Amino acid sequence: MKLLVTGGAGFIGANFVHYTVKHKPEHQVTVIDKLTYAGNPENLTPVMDKINFVTGDICDEELLDKLVADCDIVVHFAAESHNDNSLRNPWPFVETNIIGTYRILEAVRKHGKRLHHISTDEVFGDLELDDPNRFTEDTAYNPSSPYSSTKAGSDHLVRAWIRSFGIKATISNCSNNYGPYQHIEKMIPRQITNILSDIKPKLYGTGEQVRDWIHVDDHNSAVHLILEKGKIGDTYIVGADNDHTNNKMVFEMILEVMGKPKDWLDHVNDRPGHDMRYAMDSSKLRRELGWQPQYTDNNGMMDGLRQTVAWYDQHREWWQADKSAVEAAYAKQGQ
Ligand code: NAD
Ligand code: TYD
Repeated sequence: MKLLVTGGAGFIGANFVHYTVKHKPEHQVTVIDKLTYAGNPENLTPVMDKINFVTGDICDEELLDKLVADCDIVVHFAAESHNDNSLRNPWPFVETNIIGTYRILEAVRKHGKRLHHISTDEVFGDLELDDPNRFTEDTAYNPSSPYSSTKAGSDHLVRAWIRSFGIKATISNCSNNYGPYQHIEKMIPRQITNILSDIKPKLYGTGEQVRDWIHVDDHNSAVHLILEKGKIGDTYIVGADNDHTNNKMVFEMILEVMGKPKDWLDHVNDRPGHDMRYAMDSSKLRRELGWQPQYTDNNGMMDGLRQTVAWYDQHREWWQADKSAVEAAYAKQGQ
């Protein structure tokens, strides 16, 4: 199969390309990436001789038309992906996440190609801390931030194109990812690189918020399974049952893995509109497609964190140049 991977120079997309080259070498991969602040071609250096790389914008109708005509499946990761940035400046989120997805849909419709659309649990809004429910494929959409609302908009477009135009598409909504190549603005790499720089980790608000964590390789094994066996028109929830409060679990776990006392952190301003709790029920994906994550429960999360800490420690040249600008932007918001 010829895969067109959008956003393949970003965190999850680059890991997907590495995973594909290693585990699914029968596929040919072309990446289209605009190389925004979040995209780094160096993320693909180890596999660059095995793929085609195109620098370009998914909003560019002509370029997309040419690339989609020449592939079998579009795997659509490209997005503006960080909530805090969407609160500072929502426009790039509307442009890439909504208009960009529209362009992809029109190209796959015209050329009759398959699409897999990558989305997030954040489209569902949040759960109360004491709510026994988890998000399922049937949970109503109720997004809170400019990021999650534009992702929700993109999911709605995909669903409408499936129903109205019969395009061959699948959607996955995944929980919070962690692993190598994640931009240091995000929670886990921000704290790891803080500690490696002798800066205390920064906890938003009370830290009672709950996030459901998944190792990026588990996310990408699910995406490949959906590409192979997923039912056209269906949505799949992807989550590894690792839900922890930021305060008690994630910070303590990172501090423990990195040999620091568990109160070695700064309390900083909360995020406006901060979602309280995400938790995913991935039983459909497990039952129907036989998916099994590798990094499950506390031990799995600790293993994944140890591996991720080691990666950031060994790749300081990858993040050090960006660190002071990222921290300066947060400092302006008291974070
Ligand atoms: P990222 O910000 O690390 O990477 C996004 C990539 O898309 C970058 O390489 C960027 O250059 C590229 N891009 C942005 N705008 C573009 C455009 N207009 N045209 C072409 N390329 C463009 O994001 P990520 O964390 O790897 O997320 C990838 C996808 O997974 C997104 O759709 C996101 O919503 C979804 N997702 C992320 C998470 C998470 O925890 N990070 C969880 C669930 C779902
Ligand atoms: P983040 O990685 O931004 O993912 P998302 O907002 O998509 O869930 O943040 C994860 C959680 O960590 C979220 O509850 C906000 C919190 N957080 C902090 O406490 N400190 C930080 O420095 C960051 C970036 C996030």
